[in-house]
Amino acid sequence: MQGIQDQGLIKLASYIDGQWLESDKHFEVINPANQQVIARVADAGIQQTEAAILAAKKALPAWSKKSANERAALMRNWFNLMMQHQEDLGRLLTLEQGKPLAEAKGEIAYGAAFIDWFAEEGKRIYGDTIPAPANDKRILVIKQPVGVVASITPWNFPNAMIARKAAAALGAGCSFVVRPSPSTPLSALAMAELAERASIPAGVFNVVVGEDAVGMGKVLTQHPDVAKFTFTGSTAVGKLLLAQCASSVKKVSMELGGNAPFIVFDDADIDAAVQGALLSKYRNAGQTCVCTNRILVQNKIAAEFTEKFTAAVANLRVGDGLGDGISVGPMISPSAVQSVLKLVEETRAQGAKVLTGGEPSALGESFLEPVIVTNVTNAMPLARNEIFGPVTPIISFDSEEEAIRLANDTEYGLAAYFYARDIGRIFRVAEGLEYGMVGVNEGLISNAAAPFGGVKQSGNGREGSKYGLDDYLEIKYVCLGGLDK
Ligand code: SIN
Repeated sequence: MQGIQDQGLIKLASYIDGQWLESDKHFEVINPANQQVIARVADAGIQQTEAAILAAKKALPAWSKKSANERAALMRNWFNLMMQHQEDLGRLLTLEQGKPLAEAKGEIAYGAAFIDWFAEEGKRIYGDTIPAPANDKRILVIKQPVGVVASITPWNFPNAMIARKAAAALGAGCSFVVRPSPSTPLSALAMAELAERASIPAGVFNVVVGEDAVGMGKVLTQHPDVAKFTFTGSTAVGKLLLAQCASSVKKVSMELGGNAPFIVFDDADIDAAVQGALLSKYRNAGQTCVCTNRILVQNKIAAEFTEKFTAAVANLRVGDGLGDGISVGPMISPSAVQSVLKLVEETRAQGAKVLTGGEPSALGESFLEPVIVTNVTNAMPLARNEIFGPVTPIISFDSEEEAIRLANDTEYGLAAYFYARDIGRIFRVAEGLEYGMVGVNEGLISNAAAPFGGVKQSGNGREGSKYGLDDYLEIKYVCLGGLDK
């Protein structure tokens, strides 16, 4: 594999109980930039998934009994190793996922930051004492790890979405099993290799890679030894997994789809709004749950904003993520391009105007040059659906009330953004938006210290921040009685 200095990071089989498990069956990992096979990975299935859960169950007592300081020291080793290998991990990520190398290296730092954060936050799992209703009693509240955590993670952030979950789980004292997307297993397996080098004990962090999404998904959501299930992916799949978790009443957290509005008010700094929209929309070629899905721009400034935004988009360089100066890589697959183009066509057919792009790219069938579509209404397909590609529909509005109404007119509620200067408006709009996260004069809001998560059909639970541990802890009430002399 091109340019990976430490070849030991290239692992081609599941990591269960500290062992690399071969299989007779293999699946291919494709570089989205050129459709070439970059690896053949041992295809794990139901049995290996069960084995991973049992390994996590076996490792749990010793891991949960370690002090927070001991766990933090091991996690800190893991963080350091990830940062030491940032270049290799970034390159591996670009090769299997497509995003530009600088962005991929940024993802490694972003993912590692969660390990650093939760290593420390695990030291602050405070309990409580509550005044009791009788003098001979005391009420104590302690927090304990939920147990074995199982997870399914997506291809759009092959490192950070695993790190964000695993770090919180390990920091809380839980053991962890992840099934990463089979489109991007190499980043997950490299993380396992570094967990091993960091001396994270066998069975605490397990990675099971395989193509049987349905079979493995059922085990991870229904196995009686799994206490908590966590998923990042589409709302449609999240609903199925949520229903499967019901049979054993698992603790669940879900990071699902989004339809982020990016609102530009007439008092905004338009140049700053253009830069924010570029960042928010074209990060990862638009394949991000929190990325801008619709731009809403106030009529008075719509022409100026659209002209400046179109000029800025024209400067983006599309190409193989390993190339110099590339800002937009390929999409994950040719079929992803086709789905996005279908939404563009359906929206055009309803009267919208395609300002730039929308044609097949000369770069290859996984590439899509940025598309800007104007004269869009909130009822059109590009505004109703999560686009997950480098396409920007622009919708105009008259008043603040209309902007909030349009922004909230969706079943999703993950992230929203707006640009404005008036302080009253900033509070009114931030409070009126029905979203879990709001960027005000800011297009990039994700970091380890902030609570990431959505409302409505965008999911439940929060990842990152001091709140991110809550989903991995149970509250236990201890009543001390008989304290009278
Ligand atoms: C996602 O697309 O689900 C994650 C994006 C982020 O963490 O910023």
